[in-house]
Amino acid sequence: MLEKPSLKTTIRDPGFRRDDDAKNRAVNSSRLVEPTPEALAEAGARVRRGGLVAFPTETVYGLGADATQGLAVAAIYSAKGRPSFNPLIIHVESALNAAQLVTFTPLAERLAEAFWPGPLTLVLPRTLACPVADLAGAGLATLAVRVPAHPVALAFLRAAARPVAAPSANPSGTLSPTRAEHVMAAFDESVVPFVLEGGPGAVGLESTVVDLTEDTPTILRPGGVTREALERIVGGRVRVAHEDPTAPRSPGMLARHYAPGKPVRLNARAVEPDEALLAFGPDAAIPGGVARVNLSPRGDLVEAAAHLFSMMRTLEQTPCRRMAVMPIPDEGLGLAINDRLRRAAHPATEGTDEGGT
Ligand code: TXA
Ligand code: MG
Repeated sequence: MLEKPSLKTTIRDPGFRRDDDAKNRAVNSSRLVEPTPEALAEAGARVRRGGLVAFPTETVYGLGADATQGLAVAAIYSAKGRPSFNPLIIHVESALNAAQLVTFTPLAERLAEAFWPGPLTLVLPRTLACPVADLAGAGLATLAVRVPAHPVALAFLRAAARPVAAPSANPSGTLSPTRAEHVMAAFDESVVPFVLEGGPGAVGLESTVVDLTEDTPTILRPGGVTREALERIVGGRVRVAHEDPTAPRSPGMLARHYAPGKPVRLNARAVEPDEALLAFGPDAAIPGGVARVNLSPRGDLVEAAAHLFSMMRTLEQTPCRRMAVMPIPDEGLGLAINDRLRRAAHPATEGTDEGGT
């Protein structure tokens, strides 16, 4: 059956699959590609066209898409079956490229100098002109950036000539892939049609994610660069988020704090005169309101996910008192969309109706 990637078609625990199926897929498929100059050029072109490419890094294999295309980023969440829009790491070829996306502090410059290319991810404020799609950063004002140390990853990023959003190339909740075979076994060709071969990841464990938005740097996720190594460059203490209640929130918590500046009413089947409508699917049956935008007039959840954050921003800026959101099916990317909408609706104490989604 040919269909868009959805949670239903892509969440698979490789453990449930018969071994010989996975092996045949890995051996017989032409989508596992040696990183020749031609293959790297094709990988880059695929990314620029909005496609997904799995690629090796020194930590784990990444599932990459053009970070500037919301629709391409939505396809990553869909393929992985992420239950909510956790922000993604943006991979770039050099610190110079990273500086176009985020604002470096002097400490960030020192850390980049010391550890890039390498398994360190820096969380910094987005620049004003940052072209990365809101969805890739889960609507946050900060962005996680890193320069990977694998030669194939760097050649791929050069060929793509775009910032590449890439989580680990595994279905959400399963083990991270350190070999191309893991990626091949976990995803159907229709979901991940191009896998660059790069051998086993040398680090084999994800990058260390460091938040540099406060005075004291905080490790949000321990990884390939140790706390001690960081402290040597910082010249002082580095906090570890899960050991310190005063440290910045973990990304999941941060995401929960995201809320638009207007109250949000979920499961709207009618619009009040002072509301703005966030529609999904054909919306002609719901007239009225001060403004309306449609996440996907044809009812496509991948398209809706790509538009979610930017359309909420658009409605926030209209003179509405409240946003009314049409029901979104709780399937495929709809799960993540509804998770995000519930979080957005929650802090608005007055007049919200969570509608039991
Ligand atoms: O080694 C790695 O980092 C691999 C390879 C492919 O580069 N990538 C990876 O990505 O592990 P992912 O999406 O599985 O993990 C991203 C981590 C998550 O813990 C996420 O919450 C955090 O980075 N993160 C991303 N953006 C953030 C932000 N703006 N603020 C705080 N944390 C952020
Ligand atoms: Mg992961």
